[in-house]
Amino acid sequence: MSNTATEPQAAPARVATKRTILMCKPTHYTVSYRINPWMHPEEPTDTSKAVEQWQSLVDVYEQLGFDISYIEPIEGLPDMVYAANGGFVLDGVAYGAKFQYPERQPEGPAYMDWFRSAGLTVAEPRETNEGEGDFLLIGDTIFAGTGFRSDSTSHEELAEIYGREVVTLKLINPSFYHLDTAIAVLDPEPDASGRSNIAYLESAFDEPSLAILRERFPDAIIATEEDAAILGLNSYSDGYNVVIASRAVRFAEQLREKGYNPIGVDLSELLLGGGGVKCCTLDLHPVGTGTSVAR
Ligand code: ARG
Repeated sequence: MSNTATEPQAAPARVATKRTILMCKPTHYTVSYRINPWMHPEEPTDTSKAVEQWQSLVDVYEQLGFDISYIEPIEGLPDMVYAANGGFVLDGVAYGAKFQYPERQPEGPAYMDWFRSAGLTVAEPRETNEGEGDFLLIGDTIFAGTGFRSDSTSHEELAEIYGREVVTLKLINPSFYHLDTAIAVLDPEPDASGRSNIAYLESAFDEPSLAILRERFPDAIIATEEDAAILGLNSYSDGYNVVIASRAVRFAEQLREKGYNPIGVDLSELLLGGGGVKCCTLDLHPVGTGTSVAR
């Protein structure tokens, strides 16, 4: 029987794409300073538990067939596990991170060295920016967060380097200080109809930014405060499988309704540093895959 307008619309078929990512083992993870509201240096952390949980994320990614590279963790840089902040990689060019807080600044050059050794062209940053923590490729456009970490001047630098449209979004809640804590990219490559969808937390953005999100993503999943409060949006999708915080139950349901396959992992120990699944994952967007435009 053919579909008629009165029948409920089936969720579109989702296509998993192979992801190529960079990760950093939390060998030296702890919370020894406070640069976001999640961090409480006076409370204990358990490094071996962090390593175990991180390994469970790696296991999931391996089962999904991802191509994973690893950067060597450096002692004294406890936040290095959050590889998403190490830079932004697209079209064979790695735009280096220039961290806002001195505690994390040495991570910038460490990641740039890795990018060079991987054969990428490194664009040394002039402006303060925290890499893919604040810059998300959605379709052909780079959405760039500001308000807490990355300076809006880095958005101009991004546009210069990549020659792509860069859309600035302003974050207003200190608990959602990086763009990847407030937006989840669900389709790393545009779907069959050429669209890329997202999930986001409305209260994390100022009004002009919200207007942009509503206009550009009319079908977006609107996340609940409860799910966002455990960094549920900080997730990583291959277009079908969406790796999320296991406690983000409503988000998992919302994803299923739209035809995605949520996979929960428990990164509670890394949440003490203010990061989740996505923070531990830097997409390397290899040239030649769907979203990388060869130039
Ligand atoms: N403690 C780290 C910081 O505050 C957490 C970074 C989380 N990373 C992310 N991509 N949101 O900088």
